[in-house]
Amino acid sequence: MAPSNIVPRKPMTTMTEIDALLTENRKFPPPDEFRRNAHVKDTSLYKAAEENSEAFWESQANELEWFEKWKTVCEWNPPHVKWFTGGKINVSVNCVDRHVKTARRNKAALIWEGEPGDRRTLTYWDLYVEVQKCANMLKKLGVKRGDRVAIYMPLIPEVAIAMLACTRIGAAHSVVFGGFSPESLRDRINDAECRVLITADGGYRRGGVIPLKRNADRAIESCPTIEHVVVVQRRPGAFGDEAFASMTEGRDHWWHRLMQDASPVCQPEQMDAEDVLYILYTSGTTGKPKGIVHTTGGYLVGVTTTTKFVFDLKDDDVFWCTADVGWVTGHSYLVYGPLANGATCVMYEGAPDWPEKDRFWQICERHGVTILYTAPTAIRAFMKWGDQWPAKHDLSRLRLLGSVGEPINPEAWMWYQEKIGGNRCPIVDTWWQTETGAIVISPLPGVTETKPGSATTPLPGFSAALIDASGKEIKVGGGLLALTKPWPSMLRTIWGDDQRYVDTYFTKWEGRPDLYFPGDGAKRDDDGYYWILGRVDDVLNVAGHRIGTMEVESALVEHPAVAEAAVVGRTHELKGQALAAFVTVREGFEPSDDLGQELREFVAEKIGAIAKPDDVMFAADLPKTRSGKIMRRLLRDIAEGRALGDTTTLADPNVVAALKDQLVHKVFTFTSMFEAREE
Ligand code: PRX
Repeated sequence: MAPSNIVPRKPMTTMTEIDALLTENRKFPPPDEFRRNAHVKDTSLYKAAEENSEAFWESQANELEWFEKWKTVCEWNPPHVKWFTGGKINVSVNCVDRHVKTARRNKAALIWEGEPGDRRTLTYWDLYVEVQKCANMLKKLGVKRGDRVAIYMPLIPEVAIAMLACTRIGAAHSVVFGGFSPESLRDRINDAECRVLITADGGYRRGGVIPLKRNADRAIESCPTIEHVVVVQRRPGAFGDEAFASMTEGRDHWWHRLMQDASPVCQPEQMDAEDVLYILYTSGTTGKPKGIVHTTGGYLVGVTTTTKFVFDLKDDDVFWCTADVGWVTGHSYLVYGPLANGATCVMYEGAPDWPEKDRFWQICERHGVTILYTAPTAIRAFMKWGDQWPAKHDLSRLRLLGSVGEPINPEAWMWYQEKIGGNRCPIVDTWWQTETGAIVISPLPGVTETKPGSATTPLPGFSAALIDASGKEIKVGGGLLALTKPWPSMLRTIWGDDQRYVDTYFTKWEGRPDLYFPGDGAKRDDDGYYWILGRVDDVLNVAGHRIGTMEVESALVEHPAVAEAAVVGRTHELKGQALAAFVTVREGFEPSDDLGQELREFVAEKIGAIAKPDDVMFAADLPKTRSGKIMRRLLRDIAEGRALGDTTTLADPNVVAALKDQLVHKVFTFTSMFEAREE
């Protein structure tokens, strides 16, 4: 069992961090030309949305195609909400059918590059045909409205086709990142009781092949609800059927064979606005990931609106969101938001440094990317690799840059602006979460004066505040971030556990079930700008990926050598944060480099390589309070190499001294953010 007696985390909002950000006073107004041509040129939209946010969202909803309009815009019974009730809509119709009726019919919807260099372009018409065929294929396999379909795929066009096909027939998808282990896949499939799994024989990552079907086979050995598995052949002939995909008669089917026979006409289901659109699992503060539930109408309104305004999306843009579709960024800004806006999207399967460190810039140049949306962890890696890589390519078509997933340090922000944006492109630092569905705090690039490191202010239609532990609002200074009004794309519940939804997000401030607590600390400056400081709970953000320390602890204590484990975060130059594991071993086991390595591999096996601790530290005992709680604060100090904080509440003050002496092995420190993904 994982230790369950965890003391609450101290917020990461240390004075040094706040001080560093307070000294950041550079400001960048939108370039004149950008402002002149932008969708939003002035603050009137903010004012209108503030006066009546429901009217604002209603006007945005009117931009979409509905079978039937809603009766009520918003029903808010804190902490539960419904948007556009009575409305009937289909997401695939809005992302695809709508465009084939216009001049966008033959426009490129997806421009895809595989890691080995294979390329495909799908027009909106192509998507229209493929999505309907895939929808019919799923129907033939017995998938019905209200069912769940698991998707475990590389980043290839079929993943978008499969997602849209689910929406066409009213099945909810649950996309599981291809880097997750068979066990993680299994748990997610079982939690959502998926009937069908769509996967591929393999996917490329840094020249290697991830054996997805093999992993899937291991997962579904104990997934009683799975009736069928559909397998995309990633690269016909490349892997050999046998090595990567042994097919089980009757259960497993090749995608291309089923698609060949599928009819290209499939009537869209008329979904209620509040029907489940998808489930996406994310890490929380317990060992069990949460199935975040998004519904149809409100989610689509939220992502369509924010894509248009934040990225100032125009018909001739080429939009590249580098996220994998296994994360929420891939759902909202690689698939649904851009396609609902009829945009041309770039999709790239592989690593940024394959075969060379200029792959991203090569892609930008080759496809004339105009808007690039990526993560600070990648930007920091690019900085480290050197200016020569972007300098080799013509990046002059870029006009807007975006950042997402973790705080961006001002130095990386400035580098991004200069070396990638040629000092010409505004940067939108977008704060949001799996739970919010869409971007919440971000500049509008034609309006907002940006400051490096600040996500600036809530977008029109969203409201935030900083609140202290006692519930008092903080106008200027540090505090806990709260979202103070409901918004259409917010999560509706946690799959199968509504109480966890209530407890996690709406009980932070007593008697205020209307305040959503995202789990982040932030600072607000004199201009009302937000500076996100990071998570204040037991969730870490490693290379932009959310990992719960309890998940890793639960995995570690399953190893026969481990008696007790505590996992904390420490600062990491590239990844933002890294995982440091403190482990005590059972009788009969000896700490060693080999055991440390074995434990890292064990976590990768259990959860996925992204959760592998960077450091494994063995200790004879862990520092505990008199009531037996592990003092994580002290462990963090040790992991960071800092002076130790207050030790007076320790049951046995000698443990810390002993711990420092007995850090038998601080073994493995890895610096590449991509290391985790390549295995
Ligand atoms: O801590 C915040 C951080 O990422 C968390 C959400 O993670 P996830 O649900 O995986 O979604 C990531 C992509 C939206 C948040 O609680 N975060 C996200 N964006 C930013 C950020 N921290 C600072 N600045 C951001 N722009």
